[in-house]
Amino acid sequence: MDDHARANPANTGAGGGDAVVFRVRNVSKIYTMGEVEVRALNDVSLELYNGELLVLLGASGSGKSTLLNILGGLDLPTSGHVTFRDQDLTAATEQQLTRYRRDAVGFVFQFYNLIPSLTALENVQLVTDVAVKPMPASEALAMVGLTERVGHFPAQLSGGEQQRVAIARAIAKRPDVLLCDEPTGALDFTTGKMVLDVIDRVNRELGTTTAIITHNAAIAAMADRVIRMSSGQVVETRRNEVKSAPEDLSW
Ligand SMILES: Nc1ncnc2c1ncn2[C@@H]1O[C@H](COP(=O)(O)OP(=O)(O)OP(=O)(O)O)[C@@H](O)[C@H]1O
Ligand SMILES: [Mg+2]
Repeated sequence: MDDHARANPANTGAGGGDAVVFRVRNVSKIYTMGEVEVRALNDVSLELYNGELLVLLGASGSGKSTLLNILGGLDLPTSGHVTFRDQDLTAATEQQLTRYRRDAVGFVFQFYNLIPSLTALENVQLVTDVAVKPMPASEALAMVGLTERVGHFPAQLSGGEQQRVAIARAIAKRPDVLLCDEPTGALDFTTGKMVLDVIDRVNRELGTTTAIITHNAAIAAMADRVIRMSSGQVVETRRNEVKSAPEDLSW
């Protein structure tokens, strides 16, 4: 075990009777394409716990993004139930889902989706201008180590820096949950680890419940818990007794 490995205390994640943030019960998602049915999720049940860092592993097509989009209120299951704290997302109106997404959820995607004509600071301000309890945009950018780059446009930033702006944008509204879909998918090894380190720091310092999707099994070592999916089903749930610091991961 390396020097930076951290004991995963029993009072985080699934260990110690922590509050359940998401409860997913018997969720299936079927896409109908003409005659063909694709069962993207097949009877998935799981929980996410307050403050934990969860890594969702699985091969391409295993249903990871479908699940994350449902957790984030971007999509609805075909059957089954999803609750966020005491709110039933599967019974919510479109208006309630919009408010849920706006107030409670921070999204980070593989491609950063920044607005090219706005600076890093302005991209983050787009969110802080409408959020209920935001931190200053400059503070969010400081948290991801980009104080020196606030006036840069996306084209003047490296891929890793653009992803850190996207993370700053996601956390500036102080979301309850941070949902990251392949946040390092477009980045090289070193830059990817830097981005994971930022996500890890947000999880620890702000206590934001965090889910990271990846097909890279090495990333699982930084999680409190790991859920592995295959063919639309959860095939393994495990808890890391010891977490690795992102800088110590290798792949
Ligand atoms: N909008 C859609 N319409 C039809 N089928 C879809 C749609 N979205 C996803 N699917 C199918 O559902 C299955 C699960 O897709 P999903 O995107 O959740 O996988 P994933 O685990 O995120 O894969 P990847 O690692 O490649 O992103 C796949 O077979 C996919 O083709
Ligand atoms: Mg995906």
